[in-house]
Amino acid sequence: MSDLHHRVEETRAILERIARDFSPAVFASSLAAEDMVLTDLILKARLPIGIFSLETGRLHAETLAMVDKVRDTYGVEIALFRPQPEAVEAYVAQNGLNAFYDSVEMRKECCKLRKVEPLGRALSGKQAWITGQRRAQSSTRAELAVQEDDAAHGMQKFNPLADWSEEDVWEYIRANEVPYNALHDRGYPSIGCEPCTRAIQPGEDVRAGRWWWENPESKECGLHVVDGKLIRIKSVAA
Ligand code: ADX
Ligand code: SF4
Repeated sequence: MSDLHHRVEETRAILERIARDFSPAVFASSLAAEDMVLTDLILKARLPIGIFSLETGRLHAETLAMVDKVRDTYGVEIALFRPQPEAVEAYVAQNGLNAFYDSVEMRKECCKLRKVEPLGRALSGKQAWITGQRRAQSSTRAELAVQEDDAAHGMQKFNPLADWSEEDVWEYIRANEVPYNALHDRGYPSIGCEPCTRAIQPGEDVRAGRWWWENPESKECGLHVVDGKLIRIKSVAA
């Protein structure tokens, strides 16, 4: 069995276990490449796992177009969670539209109201959530486990692609003709909000284009802060 084939089988088994043992479970999709792999695996197996995106109001048109692409390809609607309009208005009125360039605090504040608060609503009443994070993406994710105890949200959090490489992701996408965000072909391996993401140069780190003006250590948006203990699991296909 090839490495990728083995990884795909393991990932399928993890997703099946989540659907079986942690219902209701949801998958948080940023609509980027990793998340399209998980979307394909979940929807082709018709697993009862809802898919949602945090529509921050600052996404690229190419990213938003993926919502239509998923509907056209799989006949499934991705649920969109948006920030509270009053919170956005207050931030913009007080600090300006692009205050996230001014300081890490201002940036985290924007991520908090555009991503973290809507995430809380998306996860309400669930037993588990799933992300497309990989260990190789950044220094902050080097220790990422497949299953984490997300004490902040009071549920389990799964990162089924934790040990996938970037090559695995693209091999899967090509082999299965999975639709993907057009920005990936224009030098964007990692895609977040438009004003906070830029294309990278050859040889640069895959997340170098995210919040490029900050230090690598601060480059997390608050979606993945876990204050509970990590649980490492060896065999997940129970
Ligand atoms: S992050 O810092 O923006 O979270 P990244 O873009 O690498 O980093 O995303 C990691 C994972 O977080 C994605 O695979 C997805 O599960 C979740 N995620 C990120 N952005 C969104 C979004 N806008 N909507 C839903 N989930 C998201
Ligand atoms: Fe705001 Fe940028 Fe965070 Fe998007 S990534 S929520 S625009 S600071």
